[in-house]
Amino acid sequence: MATTLDPGVAHAAPDDRDWRIGDVATTARYRVDLRDAPPDVFEDHGRTDWGALSWAQVGRPYLVEKWAAEKRRLERERDRPLPVLEGWQHFNRSFHELFVTAPDEATARLKGEFAQAAKSFDLAGMKEVLVELAQLRIWNGVHRVQDAVWDPRGKRALFEGLDVERPRILFLGAADGYEAMQLAAMYPGGHVVLVDYDDFCRTDRFGKFPERYPFLGVDPATGHKRVWYREQMDIDFEVADIRDLRYGREFDVVVSIGLVEHFPDAHKPEAFEFHRRFLKPGGYAIVTCPRDQPRGRAFYWAMADIMNYGYRELMTIDQLGLYAWENGFRIERAGVIKAHNGLVCRVR
Ligand SMILES: C[S@@+](CC[C@H](N)C(=O)[O-])C[C@H]1O[C@@H](n2cnc3c(N)ncnc32)[C@H](O)[C@@H]1O
Repeated sequence: MATTLDPGVAHAAPDDRDWRIGDVATTARYRVDLRDAPPDVFEDHGRTDWGALSWAQVGRPYLVEKWAAEKRRLERERDRPLPVLEGWQHFNRSFHELFVTAPDEATARLKGEFAQAAKSFDLAGMKEVLVELAQLRIWNGVHRVQDAVWDPRGKRALFEGLDVERPRILFLGAADGYEAMQLAAMYPGGHVVLVDYDDFCRTDRFGKFPERYPFLGVDPATGHKRVWYREQMDIDFEVADIRDLRYGREFDVVVSIGLVEHFPDAHKPEAFEFHRRFLKPGGYAIVTCPRDQPRGRAFYWAMADIMNYGYRELMTIDQLGLYAWENGFRIERAGVIKAHNGLVCRVR
């Protein structure tokens, strides 16, 4: 029987149970959503005539320019820009901290710290705790209530209908590897290679990804739906710079989630070329990036100290599609999910 708990309930569901198709629950750190039914969670933009779009029509992406205080501090101290990889190392550590924090527990602790600071008239301490509380509240809303970061229903809707069997899947800039695991559950029996040049992603972001987080997919033996867990999948993690990869055209699917928007226009062709280079003929490139929407801009503003260590754009689906089209892809599926735009493409 499906379990439905109100989002944000004080007593969260245990996250180590056996989940079933249809379950919806809020655990201490994340939301589980194994519903396999409408309402639809994918706004389809597949009818767009990409070849007819122009930059004059769609406008340029929005640049996020509020930087993390730590980035600004390091750059002042060294009098030079933070190297890109070092920026990612900061990003991955501080972002990971959010995933391993239980918001209800942390809120109770911070409220205690606020009371202590208030008692001793520590105004700076009070301000620091208030900022942390606000960020935690935003994170709880975005990740644990709205499920807008992992967004399993939106991702499943975007990934559906691929013509692949036992695929080899390459995830560029994999971080926690989430979307490759969702693909592996939907298209089982293949092999996944996660690539990220920050070793912390191998050891922690993917290495400590919740073992009992359930992915809705299919059972290859029966063709029926089934729930998959991380340890049931064949996954390798390669710590490498994407630019140094030596694979041939051997993958059925090459995926990136939130990667291309970190490349300024002069480097966009290189970013799209990464997706083409390792694809078998007829293979799929899946590309997503955060949407340019008011709540997206507000998120990166309020969470700047955690998220903003390097170049970042927010885009509309038309802008992302136009980049893909200009860089030689045919767009098979395009749409908008909670926080991201998504494309499923083939080489033109
Ligand atoms: C914004 S994150 C992707 C978002 C991801 N879904 C998450 O949960 O954080 C981008 C990832 O790509 C990695 N990355 C960026 N440039 C890379 C490169 N040239 N080679 C390998 N990994 C790269 C970063 O280390 C980072 O973990």
